Amino acid sequence: MSGKSDITTKNSAGVSSAVGGSGATGTTGTVNTNNPTNMFSKEPPINTSDKVGDSKIEKKEKEEEKKTVHSSSSNDVGEGNTNKSTPVIDPSQPGYSYLNNDGIDSLQPLARKKQVSNLSLSDQWNSSVALSGMNSTKSSSTNLKNSGSRVSFGAGSSNRSSRRPSLSMRFKKNIIDHERVASYAFAFDIDGVIVRGPDTIPEAKEALKMLNGQNKYNIKVPYIFVTNGGGRPEEARAKDLSQRLGIEVTPEQIIQGHTPMKDLIDVYKNVLVVGGVGDACRKVAIDYGFKNVYIPLDIMYWNPSVAPYHTLTEEEKKVVRKDVDFSKISIDAILVFADSRDWATDQQIILDLLLSKKGVMGTRSETFDEGPGLYFAHSDFVWATNYKLSRYGMGALQVSIAALYREHTGKELVVTRFGKPQRGTFKYANKVLSAWRKDVLEDHVEKLTPENEEEELEIDPKNRPVFGASDSESEDEDGDEALTVQKLSQLTLDLPPASTVYFVGDTPESDIRFANSHDESWHSILVKTGVYKDGAIPKYKPKHICENVLEAVKYAIEREHKKELEEWNSGAIDVAPGSQEGQSHVNRLETIAATPANEKPSFIV
Ligand code: G3P
Ligand code: MG
Repeated sequence: MSGKSDITTKNSAGVSSAVGGSGATGTTGTVNTNNPTNMFSKEPPINTSDKVGDSKIEKKEKEEEKKTVHSSSSNDVGEGNTNKSTPVIDPSQPGYSYLNNDGIDSLQPLARKKQVSNLSLSDQWNSSVALSGMNSTKSSSTNLKNSGSRVSFGAGSSNRSSRRPSLSMRFKKNIIDHERVASYAFAFDIDGVIVRGPDTIPEAKEALKMLNGQNKYNIKVPYIFVTNGGGRPEEARAKDLSQRLGIEVTPEQIIQGHTPMKDLIDVYKNVLVVGGVGDACRKVAIDYGFKNVYIPLDIMYWNPSVAPYHTLTEEEKKVVRKDVDFSKISIDAILVFADSRDWATDQQIILDLLLSKKGVMGTRSETFDEGPGLYFAHSDFVWATNYKLSRYGMGALQVSIAALYREHTGKELVVTRFGKPQRGTFKYANKVLSAWRKDVLEDHVEKLTPENEEEELEIDPKNRPVFGASDSESEDEDGDEALTVQKLSQLTLDLPPASTVYFVGDTPESDIRFANSHDESWHSILVKTGVYKDGAIPKYKPKHICENVLEAVKYAIEREHKKELEEWNSGAIDVAPGSQEGQSHVNRLETIAATPANEKPSFIV
């Protein structure tokens, strides 16, 4: 990932120190326990003015929403975070929500700067190749490569010497069903959407097979998974999902709560990693590149009296580090990677370090502001498992630790949060999704490009194809470098942003807030297979509510096909492709393409 930006770290007392880092940073929040969360609230309706690039369909939907916002029974329940009431920041005041104290609700989602085409990514690619008159000879591609020039594909070039003009001509259609890669994409939450603990939600299998192309429109839709869960490597999570769903899921499609914490490896030398089973999280942290990784079990082995109620089992003794004297080690940061399996001991040790001098066990700071920074992979107060009622999650642990810290010091605990709904994790997810979309397009183009064609194409640097008028990825807010597509003799192309990203989640506080808070092109869908229960009015309003992930996929595919067909036909000729008139259109275009720019095509007398 590119774009180094400063990471500000704050220790438990909020004392900050700026250190270098990369894109994804956690958000720092103060803590209070009064009224941790009130998941559901009666909110005033929203104003839904049309935005740049809204297709007819989106405009129609907004009209509908205006009419239906209050009827909790309807599936479309308004848009964006309607929780615009001013957050209560004084912990002693009623309504103060600890898990809502980091200002996310005052964030405005990024508006799309330019219209993005709803035509499939591969069709935009094909028309760009066709219209750019590309011919390939080995040398020119290497020249292009070395010259580092960029090509953005889409809206056609000035030069008319095109090789396959017919490819860019469109005939009106009632349905678009040729094999292609969508310009829209999906991002899925996992717990409560795809799985419930050990159980796989049955509709998930069919839903993902549909996105892999098994649908009546033969469209392949790129998708990633953004979970607040963790405690194992992304590879293991991908393998588990592949087995459960009977499809191939790769680690490149997986973001867990702690994945963006990879960016802290150059910031901290000695870290205490908390949560998960045994030393699983230590292994993940070491894989990420953290140097000295300790776990609470190591401290309990060093001095069992630290945790009077927990005697190490033989199993646990097998995974502890036996050579560490924690009275001589300064823990620089505490990273809570996954849900704690022993709240009592983990809280005791975390508080010991927060109240210590420079993170040395057995010491106590007079000012309680010399402890290490405390980082959480996420802030979910509850999550859905195979038990009928939701279970407390890492957010609840944050509340508990903050209550102990406040009771002990009278101070507010400052923590740094990762995971949904944080903006740092959103940026991270956006980059992972763009890279995955590129891979999916590459595989598609490769599959469709006959071997010999690869060699024939020639690149003409003067008339570069342009990929739709849309702004390319390179224009995202933190100015990260553009994403490229290597294909067809080393041609490098900018990839336009996804026309829409459908985010399917089960928890309004993390998933819907995540999808609504950062980018208007993200479309939040709330399902009823997890934390959210039918009939309740979610505090963070999704763009759509439906029974399960399969319905969510069907809803989006139909919605997008309508938009794609609308745009396809808006630039198409209304004659039957095989008809005589159709053929004459093709011939005329071929003639235009073959006619030198300064000459009149032969059919113009
Ligand atoms: O511990 C993870 C849980 O809180 C939620 O996971 O997949 O729903 O984001 P997920
Ligand atoms: Mg979930």
